[in-house]
Parts: sequence; structure tokens; C-alpha cells
Amino acid sequence: MNRPAPIPVFARVRLGEIDSTNEEAKRRAAAGAVAGTVIHADRQNAGRGRSGRTWHSPPGNLYASLLLRPSCSLATALQLVFVTGVAVAAVVDGVAGAEARARCKWPNDVLVDGRKIGGILVESQASANGAVDWLVIGVGLNIVAHPDDTSSLYPATSLAAAGAGGRSSEALLDALLSAFSDTYDGWRRDGFSAVREMWLARAHGLGSPIIVRLADGILQGTFAGIDDSGLLLLDTAGGRRTVAAGDVFPAHAS
Ligand code: BTN
Repeated sequence: MNRPAPIPVFARVRLGEIDSTNEEAKRRAAAGAVAGTVIHADRQNAGRGRSGRTWHSPPGNLYASLLLRPSCSLATALQLVFVTGVAVAAVVDGVAGAEARARCKWPNDVLVDGRKIGGILVESQASANGAVDWLVIGVGLNIVAHPDDTSSLYPATSLAAAGAGGRSSEALLDALLSAFSDTYDGWRRDGFSAVREMWLARAHGLGSPIIVRLADGILQGTFAGIDDSGLLLLDTAGGRRTVAAGDVFPAHAS
């Protein structure tokens, strides 16, 4: 399969209210929109997270989706979740300062002070030969507002709550696209290993006891990192397990 395509020139589309920037990017992908199209909305009335969950989307936060046509295998393209996580965390650090170092939580969350500040939703369509036709990377970053703890799966926060409010979604999108381009270039040049190292350097809960909620059960063990495909490594009483999909919680939260 081919090496991923170079990062395209960004073509930004600014919208007021939309159902979901991912949905809009997917509609445009199906209609032939160019790679590099970025859908940025002030608010979403049907914002979505992983596993069909609702993404709280009031005005003032960042909601953006990037359309790519990376011409590589789906397995390779899905590494972009980690590229994006590293980029979002770098943006948060850039505005929140070193004392609030952003962490990456497997597979697609960005945390500050152990609370979720951003999430990433990647959706894709493959063509007949198995290569990716299009890939949409949606990012939600809580700038001014976040869901309360009773309405979300994981405690949440915002830049404002972390003492770094006052940024526009436009300015944060500028920073995000720049950080994403840099990390994407490194990924394309050096492969996943460099991104994996950057992600692990920011990993939340590495070496700690965790619970992983799977679609069909629960696993408990020590979070031992991610493998060279981005799968979670879990050291359980029965040996090391790899996990492709699930929700991670600290073991004391069960
Ligand atoms: C998650 O943490 O479960 C992923 C959340 C992704 C939310 C973003 S907001 C912009 C884009 N549009 C959506 O409907 N979802 C993503």
C-alpha cells in the first residue's frame, strides 16, 4: 500500500450551526470535496462522540472536522487518531501553560488535570482496493463550556475552567492545524514509531491499574502502553492482552 499523501493545503469552511461537522465533512467527501477541506462550526445540534454518544456542543467551543484522502491502508490511516491527539495536546499546552500539561488518554481523548477537555472522532470510507477513499478527523475542544460530571461518561473540563479561557475557536483552530501539519509531516517521514513515542510521553495512566469496558465485558489490569498499531496493551492476571476498542477508566472508578 502507498505511503500516506503529503498534508494538503487547508480549505476552511466556517459555518454557524450544523448538525455535526463530521457529518458535513462526510457529505462533502461523498460529493467530491478536496482533501484539506476543514469544516468549522460555531455550534452543533447533533454533535457526536465515539460509540454514538452525544457531544455537548454549545457556542464558544471548537468543533472542526478535517477531510483527508491519505491514499494509504485504513490501518495506517487510523494512526492519525494518535497524530491528532498529540497535536490537540500541544495546542492545549500552548495556551494553558506548562503547569496544566495535557495528557492523551487512549484511544482518542485529551485530558487536563485528569478531566476530558477534548475528543477526536475519526470516520472513514475505503475504496474497492482497500485503500482509504476519505477520512474525516473531527475534533471537539472545550474552550468555554463542558458537560457536568453527571451527564458524561468521564469527568470533563474546559480551557476556561483550567484558567486559560479567552481564546476564540478560530485562533485555536489555527494553532491546531499548524500542530497537526507538523506532527503529520513527522508521521509521514518517520512512521508511527515517532508519533507513538510522543503519545506515550503524554499518556494518561501509564503503569496504573485500569478498567477497560469492552462491548461485551470488562478487562482489568495495568496500562502497559500501546503497540506499534496503536492497540492498548493491558497486563492482566492472565497475561498481556491487546485491546482494539473500549473505554478506559482508572481501576478505582469501578
Ligand atoms: C469522543 O470523545 O467521543 C469524540 C468526540 C468528537 C467530537 C467532535 S466535535 C467536531 C466533530 N463533530 C462531531 O459530531 N464530533 C466531532
